[in-house]
Amino acid sequence: MKTFIHPSILSADFARLGEELQRIPDADAVHVDVMDNHFVPNLSFGMPIMEAVKANTDLPLDVHLMIEDPDRWALQYADAGADTVSFHVEAAQAPIRLARELRDRGVKAGLALRPATPVEPYLELLPEFDMLLIMTVEPGFGGQSFLDVMMPKVRTAREYIDAEQLPVRIEVDGGINAATIGTAFKAGADVFVAGSAVYSAAEPNQVIKDLQAALS
Ligand code: DX5
Ligand code: ZN
Repeated sequence: MKTFIHPSILSADFARLGEELQRIPDADAVHVDVMDNHFVPNLSFGMPIMEAVKANTDLPLDVHLMIEDPDRWALQYADAGADTVSFHVEAAQAPIRLARELRDRGVKAGLALRPATPVEPYLELLPEFDMLLIMTVEPGFGGQSFLDVMMPKVRTAREYIDAEQLPVRIEVDGGINAATIGTAFKAGADVFVAGSAVYSAAEPNQVIKDLQAALS
C-alpha cells in the first residue's frame, strides 16, 4: 500500500513559516490545522495564513478544519488552493452536500472523526469522500500521546474500504512518531500526520525519511 507523510505546521515556528516550509522537501503534503477556539479549545490560524502557506510551498495542502460551521467556511479553503479539505462530521450540518461542493471544485473531501465518534454510522458515507481522518488524539493541540484505542476504528474502516473497493485514504492524526507509526500502519492507515515529531527535531526532513523508512 502506498503511504503518505504529512507534516503539520502547527508545531512549526509561525514567525518563520516560509523557511519552515522549505525544511520538509520529502513530505507528501503539508497538513494545515485550522482551529477556531470553539470546536476545539485552541486558536491556530485561518485564511490569511492559509494563503501565506500556499504562496510559500509547492507541496499539496492537506487542510484540517477544526472549526464550527464548516459548511460556511470550507469552500474558501478550497478556493485558496487546498488539495484536500477535511471537516469534522460532529460540526457539519450537511456533510454530503459539503463534500459534493468541495469535489465540484476539484478538491478532495475528507471526513474527520473525533476520538469519541464511532466510525460505523459513517461508513456508508465514504463513497462521497476521498479521505477519512481518524483523530488519534483529542483535537486541539500538538504534542499529545497517541491513542492506541483508536486502532479498532482504523481496522473497521480499512475492512470496509477494502471490501467495497473504495479509493478512500485513511489518515491518522495525533501522536504519530517513529514508535507509533507502525501500529497505525498495521491497523490500516495510509496517511500519517506528524507535527511535533517533525518540527521539534533539529532536522525535520530526516524525521520524514525515518518515518517513511519505518513503513518500508
Ligand atoms: C491536533 C492536530 C494535529 C497536530 C498533530 O489537533 O489536528 O494535526 O498538529 O500534532 P502531533 O503530531 O504533535 O500530535
Ligand atoms: Zn490535524
